[in-house]
Amino acid sequence: MEIKFVKSRPKAEVLIRFVKETEKGIKGRTMKVPVRAGVPKGIALRWAAANAYKNVKAIGIRSIYVKKPPHMEPFKWYLQMYEGFRLAAYRYDRLRSQTQEDDLVVYWQGEKNDLVKKADILVEATYFTRDIVNTPANLATPEYLKNLAEDLAKKNGYDIRIFNRKELEKMGMNAFLAVAQGSEKEPYLVHLIYRPMDRKPRRRIVLVGKALTFDSGGLSLKSSQGMMTMKMDKAGAAAVLGVFQALKSLNVDYEVHGIFAATENMPDAKAVHPGDVVKSYSGKYIEILNTDAEGRLTLADALAYAAEQKPDYLIDLATLTGSAIVALGEFTAALFATDTSLGQAIVKAGNIAGERFWQMPLDDPFIKDKMKSTVADLKNISGDNWGGSIFAAQFLREFLPEKIRWVHLDIAGPAFNNKDWAYNPAGGSGFGVRTLLHLLMRTRRKR
Ligand code: BES
Ligand code: ZN
Ligand code: ZN
Repeated sequence: MEIKFVKSRPKAEVLIRFVKETEKGIKGRTMKVPVRAGVPKGIALRWAAANAYKNVKAIGIRSIYVKKPPHMEPFKWYLQMYEGFRLAAYRYDRLRSQTQEDDLVVYWQGEKNDLVKKADILVEATYFTRDIVNTPANLATPEYLKNLAEDLAKKNGYDIRIFNRKELEKMGMNAFLAVAQGSEKEPYLVHLIYRPMDRKPRRRIVLVGKALTFDSGGLSLKSSQGMMTMKMDKAGAAAVLGVFQALKSLNVDYEVHGIFAATENMPDAKAVHPGDVVKSYSGKYIEILNTDAEGRLTLADALAYAAEQKPDYLIDLATLTGSAIVALGEFTAALFATDTSLGQAIVKAGNIAGERFWQMPLDDPFIKDKMKSTVADLKNISGDNWGGSIFAAQFLREFLPEKIRWVHLDIAGPAFNNKDWAYNPAGGSGFGVRTLLHLLMRTRRKR
């Protein structure tokens, strides 16, 4: 697909008109595409753009002209339309021997303005994340993620710190290492740092992403069905990398840290046994009763390390629990916050980005009691099927200082689509990238 900006009406095969929900169809050279009513802010227009893209592709049209309705505010229009088309047109075809060119030309009324340039950066960052999530585990190894981070650092002048298995042992990251010990592949803790150029940063934000390049469940093995999509268990880290892909070009005002603990979760002679106890980086002892609840173990250490960076705001993204999908469905992320205003800011940024979040409780005393272990400080599963995403969130909190502005995002649902949905083709969605970037682009409050 190619997008061309034009001042006067071009010779396109059809003109796209966005209309109310009830009207639709193609008449002469005009195709009416409905914008769904009653759909959350930020989603409807992107969705309509994606439908326009799919409709014309389905009937083999090669050129269209998109006209802005006079009543539309330019900010909404450019950002959402441009993103809708581009996000829908994404394809992962690096692993096909034969690829087909997308030869659609979209003529756009107007000029390529700053909003479009911004939208372009957001789309490219989302593509970057989708590519990582879609890359299978035989290619996207922990080392591969580490290399991507190194490339970003080199290209953009970010600082980077990397710790391998030996160094992690010295540091005492035993919860992370317990997950990694069943894998032949070298685990890495990766820490990227962006600082704005030539000026004092506005606050420090630390982002942490779950980075399981494959989750087999370990000795608490998953079913064949349950394992099929588990290359996506690195989507949190992939979103963090997507953010870093864009930080420099967006010239963000904040100091941003990106941290992930990359490994696979595999069954092996050396793998951690259910019942094993490890001393985490924070000093707390964890009884690992289920090796498939591994994300919270890698995050326990990654978050404790992240807290040492003294963040003003700490945000983690993790494909952490199936339970979050049961609670909220496949398209909405579960949001847990120790700080209401940070939580609200993320919900708002999500509305602009076209990504949904829903706040869940982080202070359930009954669920907290289920964390008690008979032999250690805490155990990694509750032992029943209820409130699993809340249990996991409260488990993570145990590894953070009491007073910290922290938001945990359980993105198990929206990070990966089994089939096409609106502007998300099947596969990795890049969820979280645009929301975080909108959060980081917030303009300074005037006093
Ligand atoms: N990576 C999974 C969570 C997941 C499941 C993500 C489905 C996306 C789709 C996580 O490591 C896991 O296995 N969680 C278990 C926890 C349980 C053993 C307490 C789960 O949710 O079933
Ligand atoms: Zn698991
Ligand atoms: Zn997992």
